[in-house]
Amino acid sequence: MKPVLVIHGGAGSKIRSLEQHRELTRSLESILNLAYPILLKGGSSLEAVHRAVMALEDDSLYNAGKGSKIQSDGQIRMSASIMDGKRRRFAGCMNVEDLKNPIRLARALLNEPDRVLSGEGARQMAKKLKLPLASPFTDHQIAAYKARRRGKSGTVGAVAVDTQGRLAAATSTGGRGFEFPFRVSDSPTIAGNFANRHCAVSATGHGEQIVECAVASTICRQIESGARLETAVAKLLKDARREGGDFGLIAVDRRGHICTSTNTACLIWASADQSGYSYFR
Ligand code: GLY
Repeated sequence: MKPVLVIHGGAGSKIRSLEQHRELTRSLESILNLAYPILLKGGSSLEAVHRAVMALEDDSLYNAGKGSKIQSDGQIRMSASIMDGKRRRFAGCMNVEDLKNPIRLARALLNEPDRVLSGEGARQMAKKLKLPLASPFTDHQIAAYKARRRGKSGTVGAVAVDTQGRLAAATSTGGRGFEFPFRVSDSPTIAGNFANRHCAVSATGHGEQIVECAVASTICRQIESGARLETAVAKLLKDARREGGDFGLIAVDRRGHICTSTNTACLIWASADQSGYSYFR
């Protein structure tokens, strides 16, 4: 089958200008150019989502890796997770500091017996694996911290189905900004990131609400039980909206159907499939 890749750069308020939209679509296009050929050459969905999220983490336009938001004690703590739908295997790291690419640690943990590590343990494992360290602080986020700006969302993610029909999801975040130190978001949990043999989902937005709705795992299990992707996503978001749900998601099923949807004003996403590239508006 023709492979499909969908990536996102977070959900939140409306894009302010045409120039900002252009800057984001240029960035998303360069990330699709990097990661989609992996799938076209027969590579795995796991590798494609890993490479896509690494590139999103490296771009300070997004709140993950470089450019992550700062917690209320002045530290940046990042979280990421990855799930291999074929093996139903999940790995992640929570609140890790100074790591260049938290998603690389999550990927490495997929092959370990202890697959979700936090804080100092995650850092020790990254050191053992000789993963590159880097300061994620940027002037933009330092200014937001000084203004004590508490954000609502900010995540990056990717979902893919490869030529063999294998699904994978990866998600990474710098958190909300000015949150209580060591808050755990949805991104390194199965609410924020999930894949099985039927569907892959990466969520973004208000982390507590995403956890309360068990977003990604609920949708994947519903698709496994025979629901249509569009229907399952629409129902979950409609139910969440009634309770003020402030989040969105990207998803792909094993036939390559894509769904991108949000309860927020904007979801930043792009996709690549047999018909070419598509972008958020
Ligand atoms: N979804 C990212 C967060 O709430 O931190």
